[in-house]
Amino acid sequence: MILTAIDHVGVAAPDLEEAVAHHRRAYGAEVVHREEVAADGVREALLQVGDSYIQLLEPTREDSPVGRFLARNGPGLHHVGYRVTDCAAALARLRAEGVGLIDEQPRPGSRGTTVAFVHPKDHLGTLVELVEEPR
Ligand code: CO
Repeated sequence: MILTAIDHVGVAAPDLEEAVAHHRRAYGAEVVHREEVAADGVREALLQVGDSYIQLLEPTREDSPVGRFLARNGPGLHHVGYRVTDCAAALARLRAEGVGLIDEQPRPGSRGTTVAFVHPKDHLGTLVELVEEPR
């Protein structure tokens, strides 16, 4: 088994601050990390839940992946992050197994992680992100 944890659930939100405020009110959740990932056209706020996170995602432009998702589906669950110890090795294994990949190579994610997205067609329609923790 190469997955070590559910790293996070990524939720698309049209208004990041409203989503943060809701989670604070409802659960007492506090933001432990904020980041804007320009390459992905997204601003995020991470709420820690045990050893995992809720990743709230607001697009910074309409033509970004999360922007297009919001336009098509409205707010809601966007992807699930599966934690792995070695993102490159996990990608190589999936490729060898014929699993559809979105990212052919690992790339930088938020908070210093290394990530790669895997195609939803081989995951029952769920967009999956492989997440390797910073060393
Ligand atoms: Co994510």
